[in-house]
Amino acid sequence: MSGQDPLRLAILISGRGSNMTAIARACADGRIHARVDLVLSERPGAAGLDSARALGIETRTLAWPGAAERERFERDLDEALATARPQLIVLAGFMRILSPRFVEARAGRMLNIHPSLLPDYRGLHTHRRVLEAGGRVHGASVHFVTAELDGGPVILQSRVAVWPDDTEDALSARVQATEHIIYPRVIGWLADGRLAWRDDRPWLDGKPLAAPVVEDFP
Ligand code: GAR
Repeated sequence: MSGQDPLRLAILISGRGSNMTAIARACADGRIHARVDLVLSERPGAAGLDSARALGIETRTLAWPGAAERERFERDLDEALATARPQLIVLAGFMRILSPRFVEARAGRMLNIHPSLLPDYRGLHTHRRVLEAGGRVHGASVHFVTAELDGGPVILQSRVAVWPDDTEDALSARVQATEHIIYPRVIGWLADGRLAWRDDRPWLDGKPLAAPVVEDFP
């Protein structure tokens, strides 16, 4: 895609937005050929909204009306996205479950990052659960979003060792630091046309991606 217009992104967040910031900085520094056009949160007080505004990015808040009214939320989200017209939707700590209808309409155009080596530890409190289970390795996964929660094809994983004296906070911070590297990298692959979604699966460098790429971090 280089030489063409940058890949247009909308990033959905619920909290601190450190992944959003890492992606936006990678765009601004020219490390990836992409542009963050919109940051949207369902939490009006999400700290990441301030960070996005400080970076000069347009923000939107769509308050979460409760799971029973997810359809209405998604209609509003549809509208917000129709205006921004992103080529890729990036879930970065967005803590709501989107419906199969919403997700399937965007197959191959939505990414998520999850703080575990998927398929291990789907769901919440991954760092705590790894420590409780006495796990020796942990990490994060960037994956395409499908209707199956935390179940879409994984593209890139960061792997870190779990230390004997690790605390949940220490482990979480170490994993998050790797998230800030792998998430922009995958978006860059898409922007450069190295990564694509074809025949319902990811392709990397012209070949179906049979297994995630794994990168070890100290
Ligand atoms: C990230 O660590 C991300 O992996 C996790 O939320 C955090 C958001 O941090 N996502 C999930 O747990 C999704 N199931 P951030 O707001 O600072 O980017």
